[in-house]
Amino acid sequence: MVMKVPFLKNRNEKVHDRKQNIPEHIAIIMDGNGRWAGKRGMPRFAGHKEGLSSVVKIVKAADKCKVKMLTLYTFSTENWKRPKREIDFILKLPKEFLHVYLPDMIANNVRIEAIGNMEELPVSTREAIQFAINSTKDNDGLQLNIALNYGSKQEIMNAMKDMFADILDSKLSLDEVDEQHFSGYLHTAGMPNPDLLIRTGGEKRLSNFLLWQLAYTEFCFTDVLWPDFSEKEFMEALGEYQQRKRRYGGL
Ligand code: IPE
Ligand code: IPE
Ligand code: MG
Repeated sequence: MVMKVPFLKNRNEKVHDRKQNIPEHIAIIMDGNGRWAGKRGMPRFAGHKEGLSSVVKIVKAADKCKVKMLTLYTFSTENWKRPKREIDFILKLPKEFLHVYLPDMIANNVRIEAIGNMEELPVSTREAIQFAINSTKDNDGLQLNIALNYGSKQEIMNAMKDMFADILDSKLSLDEVDEQHFSGYLHTAGMPNPDLLIRTGGEKRLSNFLLWQLAYTEFCFTDVLWPDFSEKEFMEALGEYQQRKRRYGGL
């Protein structure tokens, strides 16, 4: 039987995380926007727009369940292969989202962060994200990481280059290099690894998302398309996670 995670009526209510086994960090590959629109005879961008309402719902649901960190895959380094019109539309969405919902995020003590290569993004997208990061930097509620122009292989390559540069500059010795040290060169430096990965939209692949960080993460794949993914499906994924026994190679 799937254990239900009780919703908290009061956000100050104390939760015994370990008892309830709530994942500390959830990462989501929000896939299926285009197919959602296609099924309705609508253009792909309509699916991306509708996907924003799922983002709002899931941020709220995660916050309610006392999840500490939520990382959302918004645009991958491979998504540049798409038609320019679609790319332009997707890259305008963070600004649109933040314009409407940033006050709500601030009021709810959400802290916004970003991972990915920000330099290649349009200035207006970058500015909107940076404004959200600055405006929420002192918040200590749910941390929302927006993965934008993110690609794990690129992240690992750049981390390696930066680490080698520090070794060549004698800022770091080869003997000091270990997993923990290397993790400090990734975009996710200082963040806990995801406990649970959810991918919507039916595909069962990582699509270059957090390859290093997901080494021991629990995976939950669902056929539900991202715009249809609501609090109900989110709670089901949490329930599934609660049934898992994480062994990390032990017994
Ligand atoms: C996910 O939905 C959003 C992004 C990748 C930006 P898709 O646009 O990939 O939708 P499908 O997979 O084609 O249905
Ligand atoms: C993964 O979805 C990227 C995001 C959700 C941002 P894609 O739709 O780009 O993945 P593939 O192409 O099916 O692997
Ligand atoms: Mg897709």
